[in-house]
Amino acid sequence: MEQELIRRLLDFLNASPSCYHAVDNLVRRLEAAGYERLRESEPWTLRTGGNYYVVRGDSSLVAFRVPGGVPAGFMLAAAHSDSPTYKVREEAEILSAGNCVRLAVEPYGGMIARSWLDRPLSVAGRLAVRREGGIATRLVNVDRDLLVIPSVAIHLDREVNQGTALKANTDLLPLLGCGTERGRFRALLAEAAGVPGEDILSTELFLYPRSSAVTLGAEGELVASPRLDDLQCVFGCLEGFLAAKEGGSVPVLCVFNNEEVGSGTRQGADSTFLTDVLERVCAALGRDWPCMAANSFLVSADNAHAVHPAHPELSDGAERPVLNGGVVLKYNAGQKYTTDAVSAAVFREVCRAADVPVQRYSNRADLPGGSTLGNISSAHLSIPSVDIGLPQLAMHAAYEVAGSRDTALLVRAMTEYFSRSFRYLPDGTIQL
Ligand code: CO
Repeated sequence: MEQELIRRLLDFLNASPSCYHAVDNLVRRLEAAGYERLRESEPWTLRTGGNYYVVRGDSSLVAFRVPGGVPAGFMLAAAHSDSPTYKVREEAEILSAGNCVRLAVEPYGGMIARSWLDRPLSVAGRLAVRREGGIATRLVNVDRDLLVIPSVAIHLDREVNQGTALKANTDLLPLLGCGTERGRFRALLAEAAGVPGEDILSTELFLYPRSSAVTLGAEGELVASPRLDDLQCVFGCLEGFLAAKEGGSVPVLCVFNNEEVGSGTRQGADSTFLTDVLERVCAALGRDWPCMAANSFLVSADNAHAVHPAHPELSDGAERPVLNGGVVLKYNAGQKYTTDAVSAAVFREVCRAADVPVQRYSNRADLPGGSTLGNISSAHLSIPSVDIGLPQLAMHAAYEVAGSRDTALLVRAMTEYFSRSFRYLPDGTIQL
């Protein structure tokens, strides 16, 4: 059972080279489970017992189920579809020294740049294409080893092991091949997408490492893959969402793009996407929005840092999550993580019922940490919220490492969570 789950996690990671592909895979899974697509541009009629999803910008998704009876509120979980990478410019080919053609790219998010060197890469994303009567988007993945970013030889850079800085505009442009002609890249895209080259109006393409997701370790206890942050949580939340029983609230799965660049886009967590959807659900169900919102809860799921075997000094005090040690509750006094006493208690009770161990993470007290989806969503939807994640190493490297047993623990915790509701009783007690 657990082996089968890990296999499906690896398949999902391998089939999701870009945020667009990740969301497309979620859509396929939801449709296979009987979910219907709602379009934001059309009126909605919702049925009791109906299963629905909405996509914005081809890369963010909100899925929900309408329960029987009068729902208390929304049980939400959010994770992100994007990962740090390099975005390929529209006019990509640059004729470079040494009879080389390279692609012009810009960093998307904060990656460990050196981890992208000297390994096979390719490109995936979406194209805007002309079609009969308008413009449509098409997924594209050049599904072969296509590119490489070559290091400078140590003989020409004796300081390379002393930590040489890599400049995004020179050192990190991938090599497409040899020659002095432009146009081959666009032809490859057209072929991969199955559209005539002249119909490609514009592109949104990202580099991805060709390395596959695999299990490693003496007993297969590790999983290594590009994009574990945050597709491991996306997968765990999806599985829990689909497996949950009806719990008297509206279960809502949210997957947002653009977390790695601050979420401030039309489909990011700092947009009106989620509240637009939830307000329309309330209206369609004839429910009072502020009341529904007050009886709602959000789990923001984004991977956490496990104690590094070579650098335990980077972890603080008792805040030492370990690989395969269970789901991590994330705390930050400055509220970059939204966890508070009440939301932590709610999540701990859910995990206790699911028999899932809970670990704690805080950034070392003298180090600033990253932020994530929870505090950004809170600006739009101010409800009790907890930040969680799975422990991993090498976050934002081209190839990351996590515990293979933790995924099943997250699925169990999220199945329990989505099977419940969160509501305030008249005396102020919270009923789960
Ligand atoms: Co993340």
